[in-house]
Amino acid sequence: MPLITVQDLRKRFNLEAGFFAALGQYVYAVNGISFEIGDNECYGLVGESGCGKTTAARLLVRMYDASSGTIRYRGGDIAAFGKKQLGLYREKVRYVFQDPARSLNPRMSVFDILVSGLRFSSMWRGRGGMRVKAAAILEEVGLSQADLERRPAEFSGGQRQRISIARGLLVEPELLICDEIVSALDVSIQGQILNLLLDIRKRRNLSFLFIAHDLKAASYFCDRIGVMYRGELMEEAPAADLYETAGHPYTKLLFSSIAGRAKGDGGEVSRPAVLRGEVKTTLAETAGCAFAERCPLASGPCFSEKPPLREIAPGRKIRCWNSGGHPGASGPPPAHT
Ligand SMILES: Nc1ncnc2c1ncn2[C@@H]1O[C@H](COP(=O)(O)OP(=O)(O)O)[C@@H](O)[C@H]1O
Ligand SMILES: [Mg+2]
Repeated sequence: MPLITVQDLRKRFNLEAGFFAALGQYVYAVNGISFEIGDNECYGLVGESGCGKTTAARLLVRMYDASSGTIRYRGGDIAAFGKKQLGLYREKVRYVFQDPARSLNPRMSVFDILVSGLRFSSMWRGRGGMRVKAAAILEEVGLSQADLERRPAEFSGGQRQRISIARGLLVEPELLICDEIVSALDVSIQGQILNLLLDIRKRRNLSFLFIAHDLKAASYFCDRIGVMYRGELMEEAPAADLYETAGHPYTKLLFSSIAGRAKGDGGEVSRPAVLRGEVKTTLAETAGCAFAERCPLASGPCFSEKPPLREIAPGRKIRCWNSGGHPGASGPPPAHT
């Protein structure tokens, strides 16, 4: 049984204030995503800013309730968890925040930051016991026992991220959700943090949900990757060969935004060095493909019929009428006239 099973998960936000509320509108942040995370597996959620990654992560720790769909932890529906069960679940599935500059309280010592919120957890061993544990974890993430007394401002961005990771590890989780934890760092520091995560993973048999807008960092770290666009999964594939075998035009565009060029169907094709346009806030459920308006391959039907997420090879799924290498079954549905 997988550690986590997400099935047709949806979240729309009710806009309670402002212009959109007057129109009775919603923001459709997550629009029917499904995926699994196994034991000691690293699953990546990748996509541009605004595509719903953080919302998905927050749904996973029940920071928000889902509009529909289910999240199962070893088969158990987390929406049905009572207070105590939810507390234990949140020790097993830990969310490492996106932005340590804002999530680490500047007035608290590192020790107090590490143990904040844990006094009523099953892991609490008294302040003395927790000091021993916190010191060991700080060393595991490449800091030292002396750092327990220091304050966040005394650390660099990379070190603050290590503190966030240490806080996540302190309760010995089974799954660590890392939400853009390397995005704000210099490339060389990013590499150090990714290698730290790889070490931790080996040592602790941990699973990860690794969230990033950088497909390259995710490919380096993850086993499997789900590519998100406007709240939907557009492609899911093993990370190792995603660069060579990317099937969805959006995945190709994401890679080309890193490399400047990407493989097209007819060999090497130049692509724009940066993605043009940006993800629009989704205020209505789209009828066609969510990516159609930015897609170089889109034709009429792509705007009116939503392609299903199809499995085109073992472990490889794609949501696109035009690609997937599945003769007969591929190609858009007949155009409406
Ligand atoms: N609490 C909220 N209330 C209203 N809209 C939200 C809220 N959180 C996120 N959104 C909207 O949902 C969409 C997805 O956001 P988010 O999950 O943060 O994406 P990502 O993490 O991929 O950048 C965006 O359009 C964002 O503006
Ligand atoms: Mg985010």
